[in-house]
Amino acid sequence: MKKHKVTICTGTACFVMGGSELLLLEEQLPGDLKAVTEIEGSPCSGICNRSEYSGAQADHAPFALVDGEVIEQASLQKIIDCLRTLETESQRLNYA
Ligand code: FES
Repeated sequence: MKKHKVTICTGTACFVMGGSELLLLEEQLPGDLKAVTEIEGSPCSGICNRSEYSGAQADHAPFALVDGEVIEQASLQKIIDCLRTLETESQRLNYA
């Protein structure tokens, strides 16, 4: 079974903007999502330097990636909601 990959930025900009809370994700994930999710921390992934996000980092950080999709102003709930959507879609396709 392919797992969803969550990458949590632990770079300075993300950390001070609330990214430290995101490191609690594994504890907060519902059991069904925990079984299909791989979580890793990463130093600044460079997203904060992309033109679409730079200049107003406070408006966008912290960042996380879920299967490569950028989640800005990431929160535990946003990441869980994204995983729930992806998993629901994955299950729908498996039964189609
Ligand atoms: S510090 Fe998080 S993307 Fe740069």
